[in-house]
Amino acid sequence: MNKVSFNPFHSAATALHAWLREWRDYLGELRYYTRPRFALADLLLAWLYLPHNAYRVSRTFLEQRGEADVFRYGETPLRILAHIVKRCDLQPGHRFFELGCGRGRTCFWLHLVAGLTTFGIDYVPTFVHKAEWLKTRLLGDRQGLRFVLADVRDVDFTTADAVYLYGTGFDEGLIGDLITAMADLHRDAWVITASYPLTDWPECTFLQLVDQIEVDYTWGRTHLYLHRRT
Ligand SMILES: C[S@@+](CC[C@H](N)C(=O)[O-])C[C@H]1O[C@@H](n2cnc3c(N)ncnc32)[C@H](O)[C@@H]1O
Repeated sequence: MNKVSFNPFHSAATALHAWLREWRDYLGELRYYTRPRFALADLLLAWLYLPHNAYRVSRTFLEQRGEADVFRYGETPLRILAHIVKRCDLQPGHRFFELGCGRGRTCFWLHLVAGLTTFGIDYVPTFVHKAEWLKTRLLGDRQGLRFVLADVRDVDFTTADAVYLYGTGFDEGLIGDLITAMADLHRDAWVITASYPLTDWPECTFLQLVDQIEVDYTWGRTHLYLHRRT
């Protein structure tokens, strides 16, 4: 049997490295605070999660559902979204669907900084209710940013110009069902996934993988896969 050795120096170095990366991202993202409405939304969102952070909210939700793996939450650094917007040439008014939007920070950025019409979809009620509450307080009934409590498989994709999925922990069956639902996308719509391409699934007969880009999430390097509806 293989022995697993614990090296405290290695563990401490790994933790320090992750912490430094998190701070690098955070400080880099302060440049978006030149947009006062985004700065306000971001600070208020952070305040809303002071009692229980988003990782804990997600973990509690998954525990209540009896899921085996409850540590699935993570957030996309804003610089990766900026990269997606540029690479896909997304322009103000384009409709962006974020599947599994978490607490919605990315959606506020996509709408308030990139100018996209943004729909955040998540099945965790706390995430959607807090994000929608904040959006209504800051922006009123504005239709260009909406948060929807739903399972990603139940989304109507007919109007989406771009779909983003950072679906760590999505099981294979769920992704297969999601791909089937995405058959309604219009021609040339973008589908961007982190870590795995959808073309690995047999259901994926209508998406073409056009590019893959190496990116740096807080937890390490992975690829973004860019597909287009044929
Ligand atoms: C890894 S987090 C990504 C959060 C956010 N998209 C980001 O990139 O910062 C995945 C999110 O997907 C949500 N999620 C997982 N399965 C889902 C499903 N079947 N329907 C809706 N949301 C789901 C989780 O609640 C979680 O908020």
